[in-house]
Amino acid sequence: MSAGLNCNASPPLWLLAELTYRCPLHCVFCYNPLNYAENNKELTTAQWIDVMQQARKLGAAQLGFSGGEPLLRDDLEELVAEGHRLGYYTNLITSGVGLTETRIARMKQLGLDHIQLSFQDSTKEMNDFLSSTKTFDLKLRVARLIKQYDYPMVLNVVLHRHNLDHVDRIIEMALAMDVEYLELANTQYYGWGLVNRVHLLPTREQVERAEAVVNDYRSRIGKRLKILFVVPDYFEERPKACMNGWGSVFFAVGADGTALPCHAARSLPGIEFPNVTQYSLRDIWQHSDAFNLYRGDDWMQEPCRTCPEKKKDFGGCRCQAFALTGDATNADPVCSKSAHHEVVKNIVLHANTNNASVAAEQPLLFRSDANSRRFFGS
Ligand code: FES
Repeated sequence: MSAGLNCNASPPLWLLAELTYRCPLHCVFCYNPLNYAENNKELTTAQWIDVMQQARKLGAAQLGFSGGEPLLRDDLEELVAEGHRLGYYTNLITSGVGLTETRIARMKQLGLDHIQLSFQDSTKEMNDFLSSTKTFDLKLRVARLIKQYDYPMVLNVVLHRHNLDHVDRIIEMALAMDVEYLELANTQYYGWGLVNRVHLLPTREQVERAEAVVNDYRSRIGKRLKILFVVPDYFEERPKACMNGWGSVFFAVGADGTALPCHAARSLPGIEFPNVTQYSLRDIWQHSDAFNLYRGDDWMQEPCRTCPEKKKDFGGCRCQAFALTGDATNADPVCSKSAHHEVVKNIVLHANTNNASVAAEQPLLFRSDANSRRFFGS
């Protein structure tokens, strides 16, 4: 921890509480740390409440409960109640597994504002295959409960090569469920998604077809369903403004109390991320080396340093820059101005030639405790 580095940092607006890395699903694109099984420590109820109180004092207004599967924590209701009491807008990010009528009724009573339910696909076969569970029917029941308890229905479906061609059916499913907001989130290639990229990255044609389908639905259904569809950044010429800038608005706390400027940050080597059991959130946010490392633009190299767009995209994503170039201070190679842009272009080209042989040699790796220990344990 360094002293007095950045007392003028703007407040965090969004606290993400990754309550547990335990999860009943085994999604192939999970963004939890690859070695999550090695670290099964979890903050206690009292410690989470303390984190929520400190973050609220710092200025955080939105609180997300995620995981793993946050419903695996028996104290979720207690945390929801405290979040509501503190004045947060609270959001439960869930696979739906464990969301019984008793629990949703209780959380509604305690002031939970928002539930985001994930599906893996519109078909039972693909949903159950990609999560390696039999959860499709259960998710349908949970979707009905969410409506019954008068929540705005927010559905999240992660998109990739295996379901992009189902986008029309996914939208039809959302319409049939009376969803208000459909988030078609293209896979982010971090964590398990990066390991499985050869299986998941779609072709450019798939992306273009899916986008056309989405636009067609948007023009026909109007405001009945709001659809968010973001083109996967590998297919773009400019990077995404990841986290709206490092240490700018987003404060994640991992299950074990590790404080993170983004949920994938543990993939960056050589950074000591502080733990909320040892330091106050104010100290971490304002003074820690980890949160100050890529804050602002002093850390930037060319072409970002003198780029007129740096205030808009902040040089893109640090985790992606590291994953694809080996140096997190490089421009995100998604950017066509990056000296490493060819790396991304080649990866996309491989997807276009459908490198089935590579995929056959490297089977899809499902997130599981055994795979986490076997392939990523120390
Ligand atoms: Fe870590 Fe983008 S995911 S900075």
